Amino acid sequence: MVVVKQIEAKDTYEIRKKELRKNMDLSSQFSGDFDEDTFHLGLYQNEKLISIVSFMKTNNKMLTGEQYQLRGMATLVDFQGKGYGKMLVSKAEKILKKKNINLVWCNARVVALNFYKKQGFQVIGKVFDIPQIGGHYVMFKEI
Ligand SMILES: CC(C)(COP(=O)(O)OP(=O)(O)OC[C@H]1O[C@@H](n2cnc3c(N)ncnc32)[C@H](O)[C@@H]1OP(=O)(O)O)[C@@H](O)C(=O)NCCC(=O)NCCS
Repeated sequence: MVVVKQIEAKDTYEIRKKELRKNMDLSSQFSGDFDEDTFHLGLYQNEKLISIVSFMKTNNKMLTGEQYQLRGMATLVDFQGKGYGKMLVSKAEKILKKKNINLVWCNARVVALNFYKKQGFQVIGKVFDIPQIGGHYVMFKEI
């Protein structure tokens, strides 16, 4: 059985480490993890946490509107490509709309660009580097 629910910041750390921070000297805790407006979603399959994403109330200067930033999107490697990431983004959009948010943006890894495009995000600006992680684009979606 697959269930999507809100989780605590600390619940995300293991998957962040495995899928987003592998062999990197970077913390699995993000600034903003415990901010009042931040929320984290987890997708569980048979009570095992498989896929995570976090949302923080951060504005990007290139964009306008009531914004939230998507961060720390990851699905355990053995479970990628099964539609779980898509389910999390879709659930998050419902939550964000209830908060009167009309724009979601993220710093998308170049390797994940097409995942976000499939969820309706578009690129703004030029590619930029995040040390240790690599090339990223700002992507956004009006919701
Ligand atoms: C990117 C990631 C989160 C996607 O999660 P996922 O659960 O595998 O995604 P889904 O199965 O819901 O994929 C939804 C759609 O996007 C496509 N897709 C997923 N990852 C993709 C990728 N890296 N490149 C291109 N398309 C991708 C899927 O094929 C699927 O297409 P469909 O709707 O036509 O069937 C996952 O691959 C991951 O954790 N990657 C490693 C960490 C990472 O790079 N995170 C992003 C940081 S910005």
